[in-house]
Amino acid sequence: MEKLYNHLYEWYAVNHRTLPWRETQDGYRIWLSEVILQQTRVQQGIDYYLRFVARWPRVEDLAVAPEDDVLREWQGLGYYSRARNLHKAAQMIVERGWTPFPTRFEDIRQLPGVGDYTAGAIASFAYNLPFPAMDGNVYRVLARLLDIDEPFDTTSGKKLFRAKMDEFFDKNHPRLFNSAIMEFGALYCTPTLGDNCLSCTLRPYCLGYTNKTATLLPVRKQRTQVRDRWFDYHIYVLRKKQRTKEAESETEELFTLIRQRENPKDIWYHLYEFPCEELPSEKTTDHDTALSLTHVLSHQRIHARFILHKVDTLPQTADTLCVAWHELDHYALSRLTLKAIEKMGMKIG
Ligand code: ADE
Repeated sequence: MEKLYNHLYEWYAVNHRTLPWRETQDGYRIWLSEVILQQTRVQQGIDYYLRFVARWPRVEDLAVAPEDDVLREWQGLGYYSRARNLHKAAQMIVERGWTPFPTRFEDIRQLPGVGDYTAGAIASFAYNLPFPAMDGNVYRVLARLLDIDEPFDTTSGKKLFRAKMDEFFDKNHPRLFNSAIMEFGALYCTPTLGDNCLSCTLRPYCLGYTNKTATLLPVRKQRTQVRDRWFDYHIYVLRKKQRTKEAESETEELFTLIRQRENPKDIWYHLYEFPCEELPSEKTTDHDTALSLTHVLSHQRIHARFILHKVDTLPQTADTLCVAWHELDHYALSRLTLKAIEKMGMKIG
C-alpha cells in the first residue's frame, strides 16, 4: 500500500488546488467550509466561506448572531437547514464550553448538521485524527480502485464501503490521505473519466481498470422520487406617490407584501416569499399569470406561478409584512423568490 499512497501523494502535491480552507487548521473555519461545501460547488463556496469568516471570525460571534443574519448571508446557497444547523451548532459549542471548537471526533459528530463525512473531514483536516472523510468523490475512487459494484447509497452499501476504507486508509497521514483522495476524485478520477485512465498514476493498482469496470462505477441505487407541487404566489403592488420637500417633483415608491414560511418540516423554513397558495394539483386560474417558473430541488419540483395584483390598498394580514420593493433584498428570500423578483422587476419598476 505504501507505493500506492506515494503515487497518490505525489499526484496531490503537483495538482491540488489552493483553497482558503486548506490554509488553516482552525477547526471552526474548516467546519464552516465543509458545511458550505456539502451541497455547493467549490468555486461558489469560496466567496461564501470568505464572507462568513470575515463577518463571524470565531464561533462565539456566530453563536450570538441573529438567525435572520445567518440566513441572509447564506442566501443563494439553498438547503437552508444547513444554515440553521450551523447557527444551532455554534450555540451548542459555546454552551458546552467547547470553544474555540471541539477537538474530539465524538463531540464534533454530535453537532447538528454534522454527519460521518463532515466529522471525519474536520477531525482529519484540523487535527490530523485518523478518521476517513467519505464524500461522493471518495466513494467513486474507492469503488474503482477496489472494483466494488455494491451501491454506495444504501445502508448496507455504506457499511461495506466503510469497512473497505478502514483497510485502505493511511492511518499515518490522515490529513494528507483524505485531502489527496478527495481531490483526486474531484479533479482526475471524475464521473465521466474520458481517457484519464491511460495516464493515471494509480493505474497499476486499480482493479476497476484491470477489470474494465471503472467507467461503470460507482453504482447507485435508484434515484429518489421527485414530488411535484404547485404554488401560486400573489404579488401585490401598491404605488405610492411621495412628494419630496426639497424638490418639487413627485417620486414613486412601490410596496408589496411578503410572508415568512413557518412550517419547520417543509422547505424554506423561516425564509420570506410572496404570499403563497399551494394547490393540490395543476389548476388554471382566473388571474393573469405574470410569470411561470419551474424550480427543481433535490426531492421536489415546484411549479410556481406569480400573479400580479396592482392595488390601492395592500390586503395585509397578521402574518404578512409590508415592504418597499427596493428593500426586499434585506430579507432572507428563497432562491425561487429571488429569481421571480429579478424577472418581475422589469414588469413592475
Ligand atoms: N468538498 C468538500 N470538502 C472539500 C474540501 N475540503 N476541499 C475541496 N472540496 C471539498
